[in-house]
Amino acid sequence: MILEEEIIGKSENIKKVRELIRHVADTGLNTIIIGETGVGKELVAQCLYQYSLRRYHPFIKVNCAAIPESLLESELFGYERGAFTGADRNKKGKFQLAHNGVLFLDEIGDMSLSLQSKLLHVLQSGDFSPLGSEKIFTTNTWVITATNQDLQQALKNKTFREDLYYRLHIINVKLEPLRTRPEDIPCLIEHFIKKYSSIFPNKKVVFPNESVMDRLMTYHWPGNVRELQNIIQKKMALGSWDEILRGLIFKNDTPHVSAIAKLRAEDSSDIEALLSLLTLSIEDLSSFSLQKIKKEVTDRIENRIISLVLEHTGWNRSKAAKILKISYKTLLFKIRNLAISPRLD
Ligand SMILES: Nc1ncnc2c1ncn2[C@@H]1O[C@H](COP(=O)(O)OP(=O)(O)OP(=O)(O)O)[C@@H](O)[C@H]1O
Ligand SMILES: [Mg+2]
Repeated sequence: MILEEEIIGKSENIKKVRELIRHVADTGLNTIIIGETGVGKELVAQCLYQYSLRRYHPFIKVNCAAIPESLLESELFGYERGAFTGADRNKKGKFQLAHNGVLFLDEIGDMSLSLQSKLLHVLQSGDFSPLGSEKIFTTNTWVITATNQDLQQALKNKTFREDLYYRLHIINVKLEPLRTRPEDIPCLIEHFIKKYSSIFPNKKVVFPNESVMDRLMTYHWPGNVRELQNIIQKKMALGSWDEILRGLIFKNDTPHVSAIAKLRAEDSSDIEALLSLLTLSIEDLSSFSLQKIKKEVTDRIENRIISLVLEHTGWNRSKAAKILKISYKTLLFKIRNLAISPRLD
């Protein structure tokens, strides 16, 4: 049995997802998992299943994008012999096969409108008929869906039915892209190294040193966790971390990358420069106690760093909170308390 601990990560997003899985698993409420490619949508679906009592029944996966529309309908609902040319036997559909278990509909955003209305009917009534059959089957299936598309946009474009959207969204699990939760990268690397060490027992992988880890944490990970997993496998098979890094194309224009780079540059600047940055005058030193100066200095450093990150995220506070690794609430508190406001130039 896969345990929820298999969803590795210590970011707020992953912690919330683990908590949600614990609460939702036994409810059987329609759940949609949203996120870019490779973020772990299928892993979450598997965990929901493994945590529910439905784990004693089948977990059936259908990739709606990979099957042509004409075949997808018979794949889902099955068909009766003679339903169409070539249907020389009865075939059970996935809804029937997943009875009492889970039907995981991946890439739901790619489903055609006509099939969406058939799916909506099953979700509302629990009934369906195989193609070419008069029989009505009743299914007790937990439908979990996933998408990497912006379904809100699909609603606006009228390519996704609004009534189906609300049916599927009873529970909504959002997996953030890996680049916005860099704090998960070290534990994922450790996890994959352990995992693949048992598969390649003769290969020894050295955990990345600090500078390699810095680079990995500022990479934009277009393929998310799957890409990281592939990199660890590649690392087991060949070469050095340097070689792996050379294979990654860094996008230096992403706001969080340049913000972090700038912070690092400031980190390495000497204390003189830092003091001048803080514009601490000799008057400040004479009129305050050491305790107060300490507080003043910390506040100014915080103000400077938070302003910098906010500027780089275009004042997107949730992005900024992630970069700073503080909660959204703490960031709002600090913005208010330190009187940080957007620059007017
Ligand atoms: N938090 C995580 N902890 C451990 N492994 C993870 C995590 N997230 C993803 N993975 C692993 O990364 C790989 C990709 O994940 P998964 O297939 O679930 O992604 P996906 O979102 O369904 O991708 P796609 O949209 O391309 O189908 C899998 O091998 C999965 O086990
Ligand atoms: Mg998937």
